[in-house]
Amino acid sequence: MSQAAASKFPERDISVDEAIRGRKSTRAFLKKPVPHELIAHILDIANRAPSGSNTQPWKVWVLDGKVKDDLVRDILQIYDTTGEGKREYNYYPVNWRDPYQARRRACGWGLYSTMGITRENKKGMHEQRRQNYEFFGAPVGLMFSIDRDMELGSWLDCGMFLQSVMVAARQFGLETCPQAAFCSFYEIIQKRLGIPESEMLVCGMALGYPDEGATVNSFTTEREPLDVFVRWVKELKV
Ligand SMILES: Cc1cc2nc3c(=O)[nH]c(=O)nc-3n(C[C@H](O)[C@H](O)[C@H](O)COP(=O)(O)O)c2cc1C
Repeated sequence: MSQAAASKFPERDISVDEAIRGRKSTRAFLKKPVPHELIAHILDIANRAPSGSNTQPWKVWVLDGKVKDDLVRDILQIYDTTGEGKREYNYYPVNWRDPYQARRRACGWGLYSTMGITRENKKGMHEQRRQNYEFFGAPVGLMFSIDRDMELGSWLDCGMFLQSVMVAARQFGLETCPQAAFCSFYEIIQKRLGIPESEMLVCGMALGYPDEGATVNSFTTEREPLDVFVRWVKELKV
């Protein structure tokens, strides 16, 4: 799609800094639909993401309207009866340890406490988690898949593509939430979307206009300071 096509959509004048720093996982959206042309334009921008030897291993499945609602219904039917299924790949460590465990807990409890959900309120937590499978009310759901025979490096490439989608969306006033939660329902998702067996579901993503007034969207995660993860190499070891 050409740049001229994009000019139809109002664009925000934001710096790259603001586009990256201002992004956050959004978990409540307006019902306002997103035109297919705009979704296509965002994916076209993200398609400039780098990949090893320009292999471009990402594949995107776009859902909205009845198709999205029907998939949501199918997933929730399973979630409400048998709960979350087994994932096909481990997104997270099998054995959690600090500092990752501590960060994960801070993120989870931070979200729940923003919503006024206490640790004893298992039903409240369940309800909040359940919203994953409704794409948090977003008008658009994206699913990302990758050919199974691609290696670890291609998963990195997909990650760069995902971030590019999330950042590019912001230019048009749209926000996102990447969602590994969908991996627990990969079987029904692959079946209903017709994702071939030769591909693996990487994750999903909610896309839409944010509900700025929603309490859940006031939650902002912390980041470690640079000295925690940056090492300035002053001399080489012998
Ligand atoms: C690949 C990926 C999968 C994620 N899966 C989920 C998910 O299933 N549900 C959810 O609420 N958040 C999910 N998140 C959002 C993370 O919790 C979030 O990125 C992290 O807490 C940092 O917060 P921020 O995105 O607001 O900066 C996911 C993030 C990534 C990158």
